[in-house]
Amino acid sequence: MKEEKLQELLHSLTWTEKVGQLVQLSGEFFNTSALTVGPQQKLGISDEILSNVGSVLNVAGAAKTKEIQQTYLEKSRHQIPLLFMADIIYGYRTVFPIPLGLGASWNPDLIEEAYTIIGKESQAGGAHVTFAPMVDLVRDARWGRCLESTGEDSLLNAAYASAMVNGLQKNLDKQEGIASCVKHFAAYGAAEAGREYNTVDMSERRLRQDYLPSYKSAVDAGCKMVMTSFNTYDGVPVTGNEFILKDILREEWGFDGVIISDYAAVRELIDHGIAKDNKEAAYLAMKATNDIDMKSPCYANELQPLLKDGRIDGELINQAVLRVLKLKNELGLFEDPYRGASEAKEKETLLKEDHRALAKKVAAESVVLLKNKNNLLPLNPQADEKILLVGPYGDNQELIGLWAVHGQTSDTVSIKAGLESYLKPENLCVEKGCDMLESYDFLGEFGATKDMIDSLSLSDEEKKTYLESALAAAEKADTIIFAMGEHTMQSGEAGSRTDIRLPQIQREFMKQLIVLNKKTILLSISGRPLVLTEEAETIDAILQVWFPGTEGGHAIADILFGQTNPSGRLSMSFPYSVGQLPIYYNEFKTGRPLTSATHSGRFVSKYLDSPNAPLFPFGYGLSYSDIHYSGLTLSDTKMSEELTISVQIENTSNRACLETVQLYIQDVVGSVVRPIKELKQFKKVQIAEHATVTVAFTLTREELKFYTCSMNYEAENGTFIAFVGPNSTDTQEAAFELV
Ligand code: BGC
Repeated sequence: MKEEKLQELLHSLTWTEKVGQLVQLSGEFFNTSALTVGPQQKLGISDEILSNVGSVLNVAGAAKTKEIQQTYLEKSRHQIPLLFMADIIYGYRTVFPIPLGLGASWNPDLIEEAYTIIGKESQAGGAHVTFAPMVDLVRDARWGRCLESTGEDSLLNAAYASAMVNGLQKNLDKQEGIASCVKHFAAYGAAEAGREYNTVDMSERRLRQDYLPSYKSAVDAGCKMVMTSFNTYDGVPVTGNEFILKDILREEWGFDGVIISDYAAVRELIDHGIAKDNKEAAYLAMKATNDIDMKSPCYANELQPLLKDGRIDGELINQAVLRVLKLKNELGLFEDPYRGASEAKEKETLLKEDHRALAKKVAAESVVLLKNKNNLLPLNPQADEKILLVGPYGDNQELIGLWAVHGQTSDTVSIKAGLESYLKPENLCVEKGCDMLESYDFLGEFGATKDMIDSLSLSDEEKKTYLESALAAAEKADTIIFAMGEHTMQSGEAGSRTDIRLPQIQREFMKQLIVLNKKTILLSISGRPLVLTEEAETIDAILQVWFPGTEGGHAIADILFGQTNPSGRLSMSFPYSVGQLPIYYNEFKTGRPLTSATHSGRFVSKYLDSPNAPLFPFGYGLSYSDIHYSGLTLSDTKMSEELTISVQIENTSNRACLETVQLYIQDVVGSVVRPIKELKQFKKVQIAEHATVTVAFTLTREELKFYTCSMNYEAENGTFIAFVGPNSTDTQEAAFELV
């Protein structure tokens, strides 16, 4: 449809029809059976609004979306199709690793390929928009939503943000991908104390320097929508925050797409205590240019009264409606309200062989080898050794994590199945050994009944039998592989925790087997960095495998048996203890650093009972190759516009590898305090066995810019240090002057 036609359409709508476009309701409101009354009454939405609602939340599947669309359009005066929006965060039916795992790939190009597949599958399944990517920078592993983020670094996050948007929206005009809605704007990852839905408060400098770049990258890549975050910024919840939405997003960044509130966030302005009622809440959100009200009655019931009172200008509503109509038009919905989705297309697209193959490749690149004492890994599948796979995740398909709403665990390759493809049956023994958790009572909060909870817990008798049988198998085994981790419901939204070690029951169980002095390997399955301090001392080899997705079992087995050389690198620090949180590599310099020359002993910045450093730092990860860095060279000691920084990397092993070479800088003296290190570039390079490569980075003045004391974004002349290495800690360094 041409722009003038859209304008005509807009002006032919009544105010009720316009307001409807700005309301989003979930699937139960569109139940084509007569059951709609319940949720409607509960939320207080009128029939009139319901029949004009503009978009649907979290319904997917070609049959269902087509049915709802058809029923809706049959009664629609202007034939304006519904937009179907859903949470498709890291996979539709083919599920990739959780984003924190994707972050560990340090491979945005590969992640773009993954999101292209996600876009294709989602389109076939009738979704028009996905609430992805989530690009909140995270520094506190207590927050369950670390699962959804690519990590703690703004540069890396920004690279993934654009890759994900590009993938999802590839060939949007040819009905291949779907529209992307970046979230949660802004700074939701900084929720205080890692507690879900909690306050965010930070300086504007930190906001701009660290937190905004990933959202900006998604916006620059052309994402069609932005979702507001639940948190406050500088005292004002973002959904009603004109500085964040209007000044930064709309005016500075020129974003003219649709802004949607997070779930019920408009109404929550009342709970925050900045609006006294629904009307005030609608007023604040609309004034901040939030276009769509997700799952709250505020816009539905209050925009028209606000208009009548003259408090809201009709033009503000018109602009919001026009943005929604434009998106529908861009997606081609006026021409084809089903946007090419069909059961047949779904059948031919979902879980295609090449989708699964890519999911396996991505899962393998996301796995991080944290420890490998005496090169225990890789295992030799031909060795006539007995392997015991034990733990609640061994024979278990629950490997897709909390936020893969449309994924099915029945499609997933378990770790057991992965191992079976390498080992003779007589060499593999699989035992559950222990329960996943001491208690499943917390599942009650997620709707589980007492019977369901009881059915999950092992009886005392079962616990005893499982333990005895695992101990007997362990006695006979040469190597024990522990498949341990958090329960799916312990991370993701509303999954904040203060004890982020492996569940106690699993730790106690492992201890009983570790004393047998067998070779031990831990597969750590989690939606966040765990505190693995105990395990790092007692277990020989540790692989962090996240929730690895549909092909998890195959990818893990390929790594265990050396078919794939692990190349993942942490994109979020793994703390030594929970008391260190928040912890991140690019912290600011302090007046009394740990290594202070002028203050000794107690009076430096440190803990009395824990090191300052994390257990495993940002950028860290091992491979099966022996890699040596040497000869850091700068093209000059002075830099005006550009500087080349190069290093030699030697692989002295007989295994080729993928090495992630990382360049950091430190701005030694600035008009404001600068971080001790900042990632500036990285390259993932292939190094053949017994080969040496030279890796060179060209650093530009642009990359040395920051928000100075006067809030100008510029580089300040002076001394800098360049660091190059395989992670943020083990680096070589050389100084240069910016002139
Ligand atoms: C979450 C969002 C999600 C939305 C819709 C909210 O609770 O914070 O990430 O997109 O629900 O399901």
